[in-house]
Amino acid sequence: MQSSAPQSAFLQPFGRFLRSWVSNPAAVGALAPSGRELSRLMAADLHADSRVLELGAGTGNLTRGILDARVRPENLKLVEIDPAFVRLLQRRFADVEVLAIDALSVARSLPHLIGHFDCVVSGLPLLLLSRAQRLRLLKNSFRLLAPDGVLHQFTYAAKCPLERDLLARLGLRAERIGIAARNFPPAFVYRIRRVQ
Ligand SMILES: C[S@@+](CC[C@H](N)C(=O)[O-])C[C@H]1O[C@@H](n2cnc3c(N)ncnc32)[C@H](O)[C@@H]1O
Repeated sequence: MQSSAPQSAFLQPFGRFLRSWVSNPAAVGALAPSGRELSRLMAADLHADSRVLELGAGTGNLTRGILDARVRPENLKLVEIDPAFVRLLQRRFADVEVLAIDALSVARSLPHLIGHFDCVVSGLPLLLLSRAQRLRLLKNSFRLLAPDGVLHQFTYAAKCPLERDLLARLGLRAERIGIAARNFPPAFVYRIRRVQ
């Protein structure tokens, strides 16, 4: 009996992920929730005073990594568009604010958050977004970030999913900060920042 709580804590997010994947694979955009190694890499650069916005929080596995990096719950906001994932996130992280809005229009929907964050952690499936949507993601994220803020994005492709010309147009630069080789599928993590 004692083992049932941790087991359901693992199985519930996975079951929810599977159901959302079956109903809308293009929005979920991953074959499985992010693993621990990927969550740790996505939380690189974060510390106890970081103000963080997570886009496309899904089952909350990256959220767990962000909180494990000692980010305070009141300094973290989650954005998720799938109502079933929103409910799961609210149950799993009762002290973190969950915004049930489109990740590409956070700055327009919540203008008081402009310039507020040190890091945007994006779990959005970029390869499934159009070029225009990728541009919106960059514009939206960098409106929300403080001048020296960074965007962390993971991808399953070997090259950065944000095209060089899009980055150059906005005065941004991307660098690969690690590979989560044991993730399923293996994933590459990029840090995007303003060129000083
Ligand atoms: C690759 S999954 C994220 C997985 C998450 N990191 C995890 O480990 O469970 C992408 C997530 O982005 C969400 N999503 C896709 N488009 C979105 C949008 N425009 N606004 C907000 N969330 C979105 C999907 O519902 C899904 O939960």
